[in-house]
Amino acid sequence: MSVTEALIDVIAGARPNFMKIAPILRAVKARQQRGSKLRVRLVHTGQHYDERMSGDFFRQLGIPDPDVNLEVGSGTQAEQTAAIMVRYEQLLLKAPSDLCLVVGDVTSTMACAIAAQKLRVPVAHVEGGIRSGDWGMPEEINRLVTDAITNWFFTTSEVADANLRKAGVGDERIFFVGNTMIDTLLANQAQFRAPAFWAEAGLQQGQYFVMTLHRPANVDDSQGFAKLLCAVSEAVRDLPVVFPVHPRTAKTLAALPDKPACLRLVDPQPYLEFNYLVRHARGVITDSGGVTEETTVMGVPCVTLRDTTERPETVTIGTNELIGTDPAALKPALDRLFDGKWKKGAIPDKWDGRAGERIVGLLEGLLIP
Ligand code: UD1
Repeated sequence: MSVTEALIDVIAGARPNFMKIAPILRAVKARQQRGSKLRVRLVHTGQHYDERMSGDFFRQLGIPDPDVNLEVGSGTQAEQTAAIMVRYEQLLLKAPSDLCLVVGDVTSTMACAIAAQKLRVPVAHVEGGIRSGDWGMPEEINRLVTDAITNWFFTTSEVADANLRKAGVGDERIFFVGNTMIDTLLANQAQFRAPAFWAEAGLQQGQYFVMTLHRPANVDDSQGFAKLLCAVSEAVRDLPVVFPVHPRTAKTLAALPDKPACLRLVDPQPYLEFNYLVRHARGVITDSGGVTEETTVMGVPCVTLRDTTERPETVTIGTNELIGTDPAALKPALDRLFDGKWKKGAIPDKWDGRAGERIVGLLEGLLIP
């Protein structure tokens, strides 16, 4: 009997997931309009739940309301993992799907992959195969576990393909499709817009920095964090630093007695405003992975406060540079930027805005042969 319809669970849980699912959902819709029998059930785990971390992104990126919200909320790594697994398993037992499609490397990604595979629901991983080699980051554990039980890998780079082959994955399960986060960037760039505080904060194009910090290693220890902020203020030559503060970072920041005057502390920004700020910045200081991909595509200099990256192409091809976590490295790096010595960078292969379409085309072939 030939399969006539296939139901895909598209899983999203935390902020960086939302940019990655949007083009996939759009591509499914476009195929359905041409008669495709692919169906989607959008499952939000509730890992991120604030409007600024979730709802704003759904609205700006035109993502439909989730069909199911598991509403797990915050917790320790194990608490979150467990809550997502229990609730997603319940959903699958009640109403099974034909595929669990997970994106990125957040806790929701790993938890849903485990619950699905144990019920013999195959797993597809968008952004599979990337590795930092740093087991100190929860995301690396999430990547390793997810990829160990993934059936089909949709990758963003040939380095990721090579990592998977090294781990014994056969070529027939690996598909180098490009980058869905960049699909979203390219699809929305004409709509980027200045945030409401732009004029009031006295911001001018090319005359400020953007900073995002939320890794536990950088922000959980208040003394280390205070030192880092001092080093930032010494390195930016009196330019303002727009700092959208992640909820995790806000907790540490609130406990600091004083903050450098250069900082413009703002709430987490919606997608269109955040990328407007990045596009027009002199440079970006970050510990995010996704931001290094976006700065690479926009050609904006990016300084990453980490020792490793799972996205080496942002360094070897793009505008990103890893300077480690010692704040003393910031000043020499920004001096080079001010001296006009930053690399120009180029755009990695297949980061062309069509990854979502490629993924959905492949899924159709795999699920409805
Ligand atoms: C998670 C991801 C990380 C991603 C980041 C983007 C994991 C392991 N980490 O980290 O890869 O880069 O999201 O933001 O999945 N909180 C709120 N409101 C929210 C969500 C969280 O206030 O909507 C607070 C809670 O106090 C929570 C803390 O932020 O304890 C951290 O949230 P969590 O989802 O555990 O991890 P992130 O640090 O956001």
